[in-house]
Amino acid sequence: MAKIKAYRNKTICLSDEEKADMEKVLLSDSEGRIINRVINADLMSVIDEVPDSFADLIILDPPYNLPKRFNSSRFKSMSDEDYVAYMEEWFPRICMKLKPCGSMYICGDWKISALQYRVISKYLTILNRITWQREKGRGAKENWKNSMEDIWFAVKDRENYYFDVDAVKIKRYVLAPYTENGEPKGWHDTGNGKFRMTYPSNFWDDITVPFWSMPENTDHPTQKPEKLIAKLILASSKPGDMVFDPFAGSCTSCVVAKKLGRNYLGVEMDKEYCLVGLKRIEMASANPDIQGYRDGAFWERNTFRYQNQKKQKD
Ligand SMILES: C[S@@+](CC[C@H](N)C(=O)[O-])C[C@H]1O[C@@H](n2cnc3c(N)ncnc32)[C@H](O)[C@@H]1O
Repeated sequence: MAKIKAYRNKTICLSDEEKADMEKVLLSDSEGRIINRVINADLMSVIDEVPDSFADLIILDPPYNLPKRFNSSRFKSMSDEDYVAYMEEWFPRICMKLKPCGSMYICGDWKISALQYRVISKYLTILNRITWQREKGRGAKENWKNSMEDIWFAVKDRENYYFDVDAVKIKRYVLAPYTENGEPKGWHDTGNGKFRMTYPSNFWDDITVPFWSMPENTDHPTQKPEKLIAKLILASSKPGDMVFDPFAGSCTSCVVAKKLGRNYLGVEMDKEYCLVGLKRIEMASANPDIQGYRDGAFWERNTFRYQNQKKQKD
């Protein structure tokens, strides 16, 4: 039986019938079918079934070095050296799955970011580190509240990788619409406000971590926002490309890949997360919306609402 939720709680919960339906499409090993699939397995037991040079883009969101319960399993924090050794067990094998012209994004927090750098830089060329601001998080009485995370951007070949900056520009509302010779200077008037498309930096402060009233929310404790993943996928893959997520969780990367017309493969060891992920993938067919991404643009926070309000007033 699905839990009874508060009126505005949109968290995706599966009924027993939905779980049974999703189980029919869940794989427990690759079964030779790895395109647009979610495999419920320990990564290490299936990684060799994934062909080398298979993925155009890999999004890695491994357990951070924090004590964390992932439904059926518990991740214990370890020493820095042990975390590096843990990464060395799987990271080189995952790199083999990346095409020579492919890109990889690796998520982490401030504690593991430096450890990740040590391992990633042995196998790939690091091009940047994105920092994104998370609003959610407990206050800390004896320390600064943790409200940012990092994502390393790395490639196999720095002379040959795909990056589409136009796909990830930010649509900003123009407060001071300067003109030059009577023409707008870098902005355009949509009829509902004046906007400018700006280059995205490596600091993202326009991300909202999923919470209970958002339709993408699940019970996964470290679910990534669809908008965050959409930026990675749009910048570093083309429609029809293969996106691989070896620690898929609630399958956010697979869901967003599907919404944006990419192929995907996800591996996740917890069955419940896989089933919720498959439900999200099914829902993506009916509703490919991504909160914060509309009409092919990432809107500055609250700007789209502003445009709508203006439209209603006019
Ligand atoms: C940080 S979470 C990923 C969250 C995901 N990005 C999302 O949006 O839901 C890491 C996930 O990796 C899974 N995991 C940890 N070790 C694994 C392994 N060896 N094989 C497969 N999955 C694993 C955990 O169960 C957890 O769901």
